[in-house]
Amino acid sequence: MRAYVQTGYGSADRLRVHELDRPEPTGDEVLVRVRATSVNPYDWHHLRGEPVVARLLPDGPGLRGPRFPVLGCDVAGQVEAVGPAVTGFRPGDDVFGLLDGGGFGEYVSARAGRFARMPRNLSYPRAAAVPMAAVTALLALRAAGTSGPGRVLINGASGGVGTFAVQIARAYGATVTAVVGAHNAALATSLGAADVIDYRTTDFTRSGRRWDVVLDVAGNHPGRAYRRVLAPGGVVVLVGGPAGRWVQPAGHVFATLAAGAFAPGRLRLADAVRCPDKRACLDEITALIEDGRVSPVIDREFPFDQLAAAVDYQEQGHAAGKVVVSR
Ligand SMILES: NC(=O)c1ccc[n+]([C@@H]2O[C@H](COP(=O)([O-])OP(=O)(O)OC[C@H]3O[C@@H](n4cnc5c(N)ncnc54)[C@H](OP(=O)(O)O)[C@@H]3O)[C@@H](O)[C@H]2O)c1
Repeated sequence: MRAYVQTGYGSADRLRVHELDRPEPTGDEVLVRVRATSVNPYDWHHLRGEPVVARLLPDGPGLRGPRFPVLGCDVAGQVEAVGPAVTGFRPGDDVFGLLDGGGFGEYVSARAGRFARMPRNLSYPRAAAVPMAAVTALLALRAAGTSGPGRVLINGASGGVGTFAVQIARAYGATVTAVVGAHNAALATSLGAADVIDYRTTDFTRSGRRWDVVLDVAGNHPGRAYRRVLAPGGVVVLVGGPAGRWVQPAGHVFATLAAGAFAPGRLRLADAVRCPDKRACLDEITALIEDGRVSPVIDREFPFDQLAAAVDYQEQGHAAGKVVVSR
């Protein structure tokens, strides 16, 4: 099979097409023919081996060299074969999944719990836009305890995670304030934001307003600044932060935790990578997509032979919604 292999740490030109053996599903694994994938910051963090401090983690990019030769954590495709312990899927099923890697290849084999039935009303490219970004948004809102009306501010509402977070928060009944650039104001409103703050002209942490939940996707303010805008009993959920060579975006999270600026339980984290029940999350999102309350926003779609350009484009950090790659 053809796959983009990571030939070392660096930029997207480290991705080269190689001919690899097709994986065989064993145990509870499912072999999927990848029809589409999407690019996430997770992919280029692993590609660059950054932040460097993360190479020390057992599930990080790898200490001596890339841990996953084939990147690509989001996939949508068709089940080709299943391992002997798999009961829930059979060849021909359309599935999507949130993996550690493998989506940048023609086939990927991973544990069945990483996959779920694909939403019936989505094409492969649109389904591939969903897993990492939507699961992150869902987990962040769950971490905030947002299951009913409330005022939710989403800082960084125009990217992959943010566009899902606005829609899921709305579906939960929240009143959403979206912090985006003015050029993405109409997008945020169309997704259900009740009002929009332009981060280029207004510092929302000095707006004098208060929210029940601050969902910090952009991570561009010192965490303690959020104290100024939290309503009594309010919660901050840290999702992302600025990219950096050595410690960012993890540094933003650690600095916020270390500042001790929040009462116990008021500062929470969302972590899609370590989420133990990815299929349940994907199923919950599928229900929202199939009843029309959530829809992936696609910024650009690239063909498979331009996958490196797709990674490069996503890494620039200005996508409005998702960057997908299809065959
Ligand atoms: N915790 C987890 O499990 C998890 C999972 C996935 C992602 N993440 C993290 O979450 C973050 C976002 O991921 P993503 O996939 O949504 O990234 P993304 O799609 O690349 O986000 C890009 C968007 O961010 C906007 N943006 C840039 N600077 C901003 C600012 N200062 N204020 C508000 N918006 C700004 C950009 O708009 P402009 O056009 O204005 O630049 C663009 O629309 C990343 O740090 C990522 O590593 C964490």
